[in-house]
Amino acid sequence: MSTEPFKNVILIPQTNQLLGLYTIIRDAQTKRPDFIFYSDRIIRLLVEEGLNQLPVTPKSVETATNQTFEGVSFLGKICGVSIVRAGESMEQGLRECCRSVRIGKILIQRDEETALPRLFYEKLPDDISERYVFLLDPMLATGGSAMMATDVLLKRGVKQDRIFFLNLICSKEGVDSYHEKFPDVKIVTGAVDECLDENKYLVPGLGDFGDRYYCI
Ligand code: PRP
Ligand code: URA
Ligand code: MG
Repeated sequence: MSTEPFKNVILIPQTNQLLGLYTIIRDAQTKRPDFIFYSDRIIRLLVEEGLNQLPVTPKSVETATNQTFEGVSFLGKICGVSIVRAGESMEQGLRECCRSVRIGKILIQRDEETALPRLFYEKLPDDISERYVFLLDPMLATGGSAMMATDVLLKRGVKQDRIFFLNLICSKEGVDSYHEKFPDVKIVTGAVDECLDENKYLVPGLGDFGDRYYCI
């Protein structure tokens, strides 16, 4: 299978391991402790792939056997920005890879009747325009919430090509709408679902991610 179904969509390798993790979290019978545990495993893979997208510079080191190893070192500063509530579930996975990483928050809620997003609150690092930004939200359905959050980042001076949207499941139509507006943002995802239902939920999807991770 191609790992890049659309331009600027990075689909992480569709291994049997990954498929097994998605099978658990998509199963309606899966209870909250397992839902959290297996979602966290996927989140970790998404974070590692996001980090893999960042630039590096050549670096050589002396090894303990007095040999030279030609490697690389990481370039640039990063921060995470979670779209509250569900996006907060991805913060820990980022912290596990990037110690004491700065994290901003954007509170956007999708109206349950209309599925339209509403922005309530934002708190972002002052120097965010100088950083690579990992925008965190597990679900991209219509794309409305992610677009609203990206608008907030752009208004703060972040360039599109410095934003990486990390996501567990997106829809084809959500990706198309998002990239029509923000073609240079990279979406790092583990699954692209076929369509949305009459309530604008992903199909096959997994239901309400925030409820399953935090409440049910
Ligand atoms: C969910 C999800 C995304 C949004 C996706 O959040 O976490 O933010 O919906 O839908 P969209 O692409 O159609 O905008 P929701 O607002 O339901 O709140 P939650 O994070 O509290 O679950
Ligand atoms: N939010 C979710 O949690 N799930 C969906 O399928 C769509 C929006
Ligand atoms: Mg949300």
